[in-house]
Amino acid sequence: MRQALKIILVGMPGSGKSTFGKTLAKSLNFAFIDLDQYLEKREGKEIKEIFEEQGEGVFRELETSCLNEVLNQIEGFVLSTGGGTPCFNGNMDLINDHGVSVYLDVSLETIYNRLTKDDAGQRPLFSGMDAGEITLKLKDLLSSRGTYYDQAKIKLSGDDPSTELLLAEMMNYIR
Ligand code: S3P
Repeated sequence: MRQALKIILVGMPGSGKSTFGKTLAKSLNFAFIDLDQYLEKREGKEIKEIFEEQGEGVFRELETSCLNEVLNQIEGFVLSTGGGTPCFNGNMDLINDHGVSVYLDVSLETIYNRLTKDDAGQRPLFSGMDAGEITLKLKDLLSSRGTYYDQAKIKLSGDDPSTELLLAEMMNYIR
């Protein structure tokens, strides 16, 4: 049964899904899959290029199709989704039908600091924005997406989520 467990991380861009996901996968000895990387590999294109050349609508269709592939074909993994993945095409229901969803609920301040220190300019949603615009965009995104993230089965609040805490909560889902 443990082999069949699918853990799906959701949350805002910059909430640490990939970093936390890798640590979690390692401690469980599970495969780690990053949906953005899976999509880029499958399509042979960077997400940035897809946004620029084909637009967000096409990206969302590709994202949903990759999500379906991963959830249906691969067993026993930790999946890090893109920030928008649960919020389009009924994807949150799909995620909850297939595994244990976990929302990394990180403060906007931390997200802002990470994104501006890191590579916000490289992320299509924030491209060309200055600091004030990024702040507004983040508030806007969270207010429209929070309702999807809140449907996750487990919510981990705080800037530095603990794998131990999550594993303890997950015992309810492992039989
Ligand atoms: C997006 C987040 C990105 C990526 C794409 C769109 C979003 O992933 O999927 O640029 O809509 O929030 P991260 O959450 O890993 O940055």
